Amino acid sequence: LSTINIGICGLGTVGQGVWKHIDSNRVALESRLGVTLNLARASVRDLKKKRTVRVSAGALTLDPLSIATDPSIHIVCELIGGTTLARQVTIAALKAGKTVVSANKALLCKHGPEIFAAARKHGGHFFFEASVAGGIPIIKALREGLVANRFKLIYGILNGTCNYILTRMEREGLSYPVILKEAKELGYAEADEALDVEGWDTAHKASILAFLAHGTWVPTEKMLVEGITQITQADLSFARENGYAIKLLAVITREADTGEVFVRVHPTLIPKTKVLANVNEVYNGISVTGDVVGETVYIGRGAGQDPTASAVISDIADAVILLNRGNTHLPEPVETRASLTPLQRITGR
Ligand code: NAP
Ligand code: HSE
Repeated sequence: LSTINIGICGLGTVGQGVWKHIDSNRVALESRLGVTLNLARASVRDLKKKRTVRVSAGALTLDPLSIATDPSIHIVCELIGGTTLARQVTIAALKAGKTVVSANKALLCKHGPEIFAAARKHGGHFFFEASVAGGIPIIKALREGLVANRFKLIYGILNGTCNYILTRMEREGLSYPVILKEAKELGYAEADEALDVEGWDTAHKASILAFLAHGTWVPTEKMLVEGITQITQADLSFARENGYAIKLLAVITREADTGEVFVRVHPTLIPKTKVLANVNEVYNGISVTGDVVGETVYIGRGAGQDPTASAVISDIADAVILLNRGNTHLPEPVETRASLTPLQRITGR
């Protein structure tokens, strides 16, 4: 295929980020992938809403299912959120043999087995790098980079909104509702922010990581889940005075004898000497310990338009490679002009 037609279902925070960054990095992306990336169609709920990207009226629809089943579309990005319409769109697209890219952790946690089965049955593919930890390529790390390992322990900060709230409360003494409002305006929070602050979004993400690490879906009903709504300034001061930070952590363990996988989500006191205690603002941090590699740690922005778009576009790139078998996205050699020696560049002389 020389032109890849992409349909963006949901042109909100993430959808507009994907549109914007495919356009802004088009030359580099297309030369790496050897194809033209055609942003062919997009769906929204409200046609009158102002968008930050320019989409021709003819390309916009109110009906995401029409994109999912459009024979001309190769890759469908499900960026709507929720689990009802998003499930219908995803299953319809997979049934039509399409590749689906999704950022939807709630959907995957609830309907993961059905979605993977549909992809297998109809020969489509399902990519979900943006579903956990925003711009950090943690899905790739578990699926590919760390494939030699069995995972003894995975824990991390998986919700940018909660980490942003805890950081700002701790540093600036701001009140919880003020910071939550800000996190919403910055595009970090879920449409239903209770998912963030009550710990469910972290639980959804932990369930995906647990599946990738151990091959078992742990339903949220079997997890211990507590969010950050009860954390007070007094808790944060107590932690600080004693050399700790409070972080909302997901912890994933597997019993060596029974093989049972446990997931818990709760605010945790972390000594300030540890890396994760110093992961602040909207950043996420994940520690993965494998029996072969030892501990590896990943840090990056965990929510928001740009890091999430980065992850979605990486999935689109992988999807293109799958669609055009044999084509790899190594960069084309680029000609540069040698002006300064490395030493001159560092010293400025
Ligand atoms: P959002 O800003 O609320 O965007 C949702 C988009 O879907 C909007 O364009 C909306 O249309 C459309 N939509 C919603 N309900 C619809 C319906 N019933 N029918 C038709 N269209 C509908 O959400 P978002 O923040 O981009 O998140 C999208 C997905 O990415 C979610 O699954 C979320 O969990 C995930 N995610 C988000 C982030 C983040 O930082 N925001 C990070 C990682 C993953 P209108 O624009 O017309 O309202
Ligand atoms: N609401 C989520 C968060 C978005 O704050 O982490 C990223 O998944």
